[in-house]
Amino acid sequence: MNTFSGQMTAKCHDPIDIGNVRIKNRIARSSLAGITDGEFGEVLEPRIGFEETFAQGGVGLIISSHVPIRADGRVLPNYAMIDHDDRIDEWKRLVKAVHAHDTKYFLQLSHSGRQQDLGGIQNINYGQGNLDMRPPSPGSVADPFHGLTGRMLNVNGMKQMVQDFIAAARRAAAAGVDGLELHSSNGYFFTQVISR
Ligand SMILES: Cc1cc2nc3c(=O)[nH]c(=O)nc-3n(C[C@H](O)[C@H](O)[C@H](O)COP(=O)(O)O)c2cc1C
Repeated sequence: MNTFSGQMTAKCHDPIDIGNVRIKNRIARSSLAGITDGEFGEVLEPRIGFEETFAQGGVGLIISSHVPIRADGRVLPNYAMIDHDDRIDEWKRLVKAVHAHDTKYFLQLSHSGRQQDLGGIQNINYGQGNLDMRPPSPGSVADPFHGLTGRMLNVNGMKQMVQDFIAAARRAAAAGVDGLELHSSNGYFFTQVISR
């Protein structure tokens, strides 16, 4: 069903509504990025240029690559994060560049849980004094992908994770993004919550 016009058939260039967001066509750039960002998770010019190129090309919607809500939830370094308020202006610049072409921007919030490839030097701060630098995870079983375990979160740790997702969502909204996606595929944090 074409939710825009009520017709049963829709064409690629017809607008579509997702919630209250109107997207100018049905062409979306799926979540995708290379390692284009700063060492500490900054949004840099290469990412802005990368996203803007798709917007210039006419896609209606761009979904960011996975965006860690905390440094201990990186899959790899050099991916932009949304882990503190100073990031809001960085993302604002990107969103503005995309909006200039009437393209909508959804941000994909993520946490790696135990499925982390390379955490980066910042994770040394997450050992909580016990030198356990494994990434936090809802469980203690080994990851089926690479066989490594995470540091199992207790109830307070899980509650903090919820709060950190909420804080990241607020930052994204403040930066002007049009929608959010929760990265719940591969073997990342949410997958670890619903399946061992
Ligand atoms: C380099 C690269 C990075 C990607 N990064 C993400 C990501 O961060 N989050 C995500 O959900 N999917 C990611 N994907 C998956 C793509 O969004 C897409 O689902 C996948 O490539 C399948 O679509 P395709 O058959 O058109 O390539 C990535 C894919 C590639 C090739």
